Amino acid sequence: MSVGTESLVTVTATINGEPRTFTVPGHRTLLDALRSELGLTGTKSSCTEGECGACTVMLDGHAVNSCLVLAAEVDGHEVLTVEGVSVDGGTDLQQAFLEHGAVQCGFCIPGQVMSAEYLLSRNPDPSVQEIRDAMSGNLCRCASYNRIVEAVRQTATKRVSTRG
Ligand code: FES
Ligand code: FES
Repeated sequence: MSVGTESLVTVTATINGEPRTFTVPGHRTLLDALRSELGLTGTKSSCTEGECGACTVMLDGHAVNSCLVLAAEVDGHEVLTVEGVSVDGGTDLQQAFLEHGAVQCGFCIPGQVMSAEYLLSRNPDPSVQEIRDAMSGNLCRCASYNRIVEAVRQTATKRVSTRG
């Protein structure tokens, strides 16, 4: 990281597996840098104060609210966004969200997907209560909570059975 004039900060980080270098004002959040400097608009901005989970990404493998992280803090680190866990046509998890009708307006879904992937990376076969607890920081104004839980549960079951 190098700090220049006008409090600009040059950050080099691994974003979705690719090395990226970008320059931002020192006060820029990771959320805003992802959306504005890096064009990764899948990560959504809502409350901007750590309350809703819409901006969830993974930082060095841990789910974080990117609105609470400065872009400068990710220098030398790895960031994974919803674009980085997506595939053409949707992952099994994303397909499950669709099949269960969990995607209403869709605004919260990228954050829900990241929190669910984080949970499944830590706990491949979570109970319904464990899913509810792990995803309690992701708010859904469309109140798709039960459908989201069902989608995560189904994905876990399928992944576990596939891995045998
Ligand atoms: S926008 Fe970050 S938690 Fe709401
Ligand atoms: S699907 Fe609309 S906020 Fe969750």
